[in-house]
Amino acid sequence: MEKTILEYINWAIEYLEEQRIENPRCNAEAIFSFVSGKNRLQIYLEGKEKWEEKQAEEFISLVKKRAQKRYPLHYLIKKREFYGLDFKTIPGVFIPRPETEVLVETVINMVKCLNGKRINLLEIGTGSGCIAIALAKFIANVKIIATDISPLALKIARENAYLNKTDEKIEFIHSDLFASVPNQEFEMIVSNPPYIARSEMLKLPPEVKFEPSLALDGGEDGLDYIKKIVEISPDYLSAKGIVIMEIGFGQKEKVKHIFSLSGFKKIQFIKDYAGIDRVVVLYRNYG
Ligand SMILES: C[S@@+](CC[C@H](N)C(=O)[O-])C[C@H]1O[C@@H](n2cnc3c(N)ncnc32)[C@H](O)[C@@H]1O
Repeated sequence: MEKTILEYINWAIEYLEEQRIENPRCNAEAIFSFVSGKNRLQIYLEGKEKWEEKQAEEFISLVKKRAQKRYPLHYLIKKREFYGLDFKTIPGVFIPRPETEVLVETVINMVKCLNGKRINLLEIGTGSGCIAIALAKFIANVKIIATDISPLALKIARENAYLNKTDEKIEFIHSDLFASVPNQEFEMIVSNPPYIARSEMLKLPPEVKFEPSLALDGGEDGLDYIKKIVEISPDYLSAKGIVIMEIGFGQKEKVKHIFSLSGFKKIQFIKDYAGIDRVVVLYRNYG
């Protein structure tokens, strides 16, 4: 006999909990919304209605895939919200993370001090495009060049820019770091580079292992890309240019050391909502 929507949701919550999936209710509701096309509120408004068998079967199979394979929720439901916008996500492309919103917030706050002056901004390693697209959406006078070495990431980033109506403000370029970036000056260079240390790669949660190692592996100490960006970015920065990067847990002191060997004049760290130093800001000149 067919069960009600709420009975399926409650089964999924219990099952995901038993399988030690974090936030079982959010997972169950997100998978339900993906399969049914209904929103969260409708679960509870229409919860006592019977659920058609074909959709219910798909729901059960996705809930089991989530739990048994530890398959990432956002690859299952093919999208992720970031900075209030929706982003398409597919296997092979890094899933946007909530902590990266701190980087976006930092850039938006800094731009507010520039009183509407036009900004040329470069992003290294755009992935799904979430940083560039959120910045293009919320900064009026910005022109962005966003790069990635992964052609698949660039394809999804272009689609996401179109879906979020920001494609006219962003040019996506296939580039190994700065190699194919046009020879011009940028007021800001931003990046959430791969920053996981090699030794940490094996200890990542099973879900993260489904994501491309190209997006995660930052070399021996996790700092390969950060070092390269600090080294090369002055060639592309305006006189008062700024570099803003996301960094990993516990990397603050090492990043300070990299700064001390560079020509940058000032460094600043910004914490995420968990109190972890998450964003570093480097000032080429200050004052
Ligand atoms: C941690 S992900 C960040 C993606 C996205 N900006 C975000 O914050 O969700 C790092 C990105 O850098 C890209 N990447 C890795 N090596 C690169 C390189 N040498 N040049 C350009 N991009 C690179 C990866 O393909 C990946 O998309």
